[in-house]
Amino acid sequence: MKTKVCIIGGGPSGLLLSQLLHLKGIDNVVLERQSREYVLSRIRAGVLEHGFAELMREAQCGERMDREGEIHEGFFIAHDGRMDRVDLHRYSGGSSVVVYGQTELTRDLYEARERMNGRVIHHVEDVKLHELTGDAPYVTYRSGDEIVRVDCDYVIGADGFHGVSRKSIPRGVLREYERVYPFGWLGVLSRTKPVSPELIYARHERGFALCSLRSQVLSRYYIQVPLSDKVEEWSDEAFWDELRRRLPEEVSQRLITGASIEKSIAPLRSFVAEPMRHGRLFLAGDAAHIVPPTGARGLNSAASDIYYLYHAMLGHYLDGDDSGLDGYSAKALARVWKAQRFSWWMTMMLHTFPDSIDYDRKLQDTDLAYLFSSEAALRSLAENYVGLPF
Ligand code: APR
Ligand code: PHB
Repeated sequence: MKTKVCIIGGGPSGLLLSQLLHLKGIDNVVLERQSREYVLSRIRAGVLEHGFAELMREAQCGERMDREGEIHEGFFIAHDGRMDRVDLHRYSGGSSVVVYGQTELTRDLYEARERMNGRVIHHVEDVKLHELTGDAPYVTYRSGDEIVRVDCDYVIGADGFHGVSRKSIPRGVLREYERVYPFGWLGVLSRTKPVSPELIYARHERGFALCSLRSQVLSRYYIQVPLSDKVEEWSDEAFWDELRRRLPEEVSQRLITGASIEKSIAPLRSFVAEPMRHGRLFLAGDAAHIVPPTGARGLNSAASDIYYLYHAMLGHYLDGDDSGLDGYSAKALARVWKAQRFSWWMTMMLHTFPDSIDYDRKLQDTDLAYLFSSEAALRSLAENYVGLPF
């Protein structure tokens, strides 16, 4: 098989790039290890920054997002028994975010790829990357007993944190930065009316909690749990009881509970791999970086990589200008690190740390007190949450 761009991974990063390139006539193939159903069964993030929503529209995939997604102009931080609102619209100079599930967004991208006869190949096994530093890279994979070879100009590693692409960069070249947090988030999806029309991030001595939503009939809630907890040990009832305890009284009284449709525990991690380019391989999304979900940056950081990569590819194929490709790693990483900083800060401010000392808790109190007493601090939070410019 021959193509211009071989994209490894059919998650949101890979599919979005595939769709954008296709619309500009740049031939590409997506290789995905799992089935489409499996990819679409993963419940992940749900907050899209303005620039990401624009990119979805440019990819001709914004119709359902615009119809069913909700525009949110603010969210709440609950602490010390009270609720303070962050007015995103006011403090970001008129911007907002779109609440639309990653699962739905991925479904829209798959449907668009199918509609346009895009090549998305599922169930590929043993994907291997070859000759990345030469002029003629290629990728091989196994399909049953057959080994298939894909010759291409460029390889995109959009295969998530556990993918093969990042591991194909030699150890001496790659530098990894990581922080693992001593807790996870237990998440529940339930077909119930959300407790609040806007998200509530709650700091509580028993641990952090988040009230989020997918629509006005579908709620997503999280509580911080120790890493040793097992999801099977958490009954729905125990989850709702614990969530109630961590919310201000007036909120917990309104909470409508129901059977969980999905329940899982995700560990929290900060991770960056540098550089994001090696020869003709370009990393994007979770393959290169992970953030704890507290700042809603994960999916959005993937989208900014795709924005830079897409424009770099347009420069190369349409204008013969390689400066975008040459500058990709530095440009993407500059924004990635800002998302890391913001996610780390939100995480540190709102979670309960098992080994914290009184001094640390006083600083957390002060961080929140400063935030809600300073317009400059609110502006800083808001501009990061709605997404820094690309
Ligand atoms: N070969 C082919 N495909 C692979 C391989 C491999 N060796 N390894 C992983 N994949 C596939 C996975 O099955 C998955 O569908 O790559 C895809 C990667 O998708 P995601 O993990 O969703 O990563 P990405 O597309 O970068 O999405 C951005 O940011 O914070 C997160 O929740 C957010 O998942 C979202 C991510
Ligand atoms: C979610 O709805 O899944 C969600 C929302 C905001 C976050 C993290 C997760 O910060």
